[in-house]
Amino acid sequence: MQIIHHIKDLRQVIKEARNARGELRVGFVPTMGYLHQGHASLLEAARKQCDLVILSIFVNPLQFGPNEDLSRYPRDEERDLAVAKATGTDIVFFPTVQEMYPNPTKTIVSVSGVTERLCGTSRPGHFDGVATVVTKLFNIVQPDFAFFGMKDAQQIAVIQQMVDDLNNPVEIVPCKIVREEDGLALSSRNVYLQPEEREQALVLSSALKMAEKFVQEHEGSLQAAELQEAVKRHIAQSSIAEIDYADILAYPSLEQVTDLRSVPAFIIALAVKFGKTRLIDNTIIRW
Ligand code: PAF
Repeated sequence: MQIIHHIKDLRQVIKEARNARGELRVGFVPTMGYLHQGHASLLEAARKQCDLVILSIFVNPLQFGPNEDLSRYPRDEERDLAVAKATGTDIVFFPTVQEMYPNPTKTIVSVSGVTERLCGTSRPGHFDGVATVVTKLFNIVQPDFAFFGMKDAQQIAVIQQMVDDLNNPVEIVPCKIVREEDGLALSSRNVYLQPEEREQALVLSSALKMAEKFVQEHEGSLQAAELQEAVKRHIAQSSIAEIDYADILAYPSLEQVTDLRSVPAFIIALAVKFGKTRLIDNTIIRW
């Protein structure tokens, strides 16, 4: 496994690998590090599908708001490298902020529509930061496939839209949410949770399970408002949960929908704070 810090070195290594083998499928897993089993599952999927697997670890300042957790975002380089190695990753790209943004960027990639609700509203500028850094990373790596976790379902919708609009030849591969045995979706931010918050955070996955059952029971006709009401009531069982949003939208367009039977798929998307920690989770229902 090679660890590379500089863009020019990474380009050179990928060029040599492509030259050495006519048809090389390059798989890319962009992350912000503090890797968990969810990231490992992306690397494993990439390993199965690709000849060269590249992981990037970069905590991108551009996607954090002024009062967000950039300065305390968890980091563990040693453990990240161990996870990368165990999943058979070929290259870890570990750039510094100076390497990625030697000068303040004057170009921002901004996707409209799919960014107008959910985290797009709660975290202004977040998706501009994501779309800009992912564009830069795609330009550096030029992958054939890029793997993203469905926990960030809106991020996938944004990146897919961007790739389609800008004719980037990469194929986006969405991968299933990985959960703890008790249902909590894996997230690097789970490390912030105090034991009581960790316990109460289970209300997210139980709300989604309840919602899936509710959908089954109301198959004939189902209004988004009814389902949203049931989900919010369920989350309110937790005494400390503070709902940022609990929304039901068409997926992947993320447009508002009233009659859920009128769209082929919809998302139940949650963002809820437990103490200082904001967690997201979701499920997608396809008829
Ligand atoms: O999902 C993440 O970890 C980040 O948003 C990403 C895609 C690596 C961009 O910084």
